[in-house]
Amino acid sequence: MYKNIFDTHAHYDDSRFDGDRDELLSSLSEKGVSSIVNCGCDLKSSLTTVALAERYSFIYAAAGVHAHEAQEATESDLEEIERLYGNERVVAVGEIGLDYHYDFSPREIQLEVFEKQLVLANRLGLPVIVHDREAHEDTMRLLKKHRPEGVVHCFSGSAEMAKEVLKLGMYIGIGGAVTFKNAKKPVEVVENLPLDRLLLETDAPYMTPVPFRGQRCDSSHIAYTAEKIAAIKGIDVQQLIDICNENAKRLFKV
Ligand code: NI
Repeated sequence: MYKNIFDTHAHYDDSRFDGDRDELLSSLSEKGVSSIVNCGCDLKSSLTTVALAERYSFIYAAAGVHAHEAQEATESDLEEIERLYGNERVVAVGEIGLDYHYDFSPREIQLEVFEKQLVLANRLGLPVIVHDREAHEDTMRLLKKHRPEGVVHCFSGSAEMAKEVLKLGMYIGIGGAVTFKNAKKPVEVVENLPLDRLLLETDAPYMTPVPFRGQRCDSSHIAYTAEKIAAIKGIDVQQLIDICNENAKRLFKV
């Protein structure tokens, strides 16, 4: 069994955990999980995330408005979320970003809300957790403009784009997608990625790695993602997990 697993991206506030949330979270340490960053997507889930982080010492909180929820977020929601950053359990602004795959919010609103939160993160000195789905060009344009600290999570860009992200000093989050059969791009990204910029993540309850693809994901499944990445890099799995743990602690200052 592995130890020291730092899951840098999960959503344990999701309703799919309603039936067994406490039982599951309490069992994770026995499965080698030592730390988790839970990400909010709007005011409600950011508040739930902070409550989880206050209840479990190994959970840290990120608060923010996701691309999907950008349209629904009011000015007062954003103000209330901003107050959450005063809480010491909140370590990042996230998850924020752009999603041109689903386009649940109009793009101009996604861009406005994303940029507002990049400015806020820089003002507060907090790292960002960025979601980018089929919006690489606009994401890179705004990241280059504001140069935040942070991670592009569930990285879906090319190895070329990864280079640009690294040049900005940011980290790259790799999750279950790297284990999928058709994972050509993520494998290429990992091949070219320096180990000190890599973060492990699940995006639980989504993105479950093979061989559990399709089932509900939890942080213990990171073992399969780590095994795949370690094989690509030609290093020991526990060594990879330890390096990624150090990277996460450096970025989130925990
Ligand atoms: Ni997410």
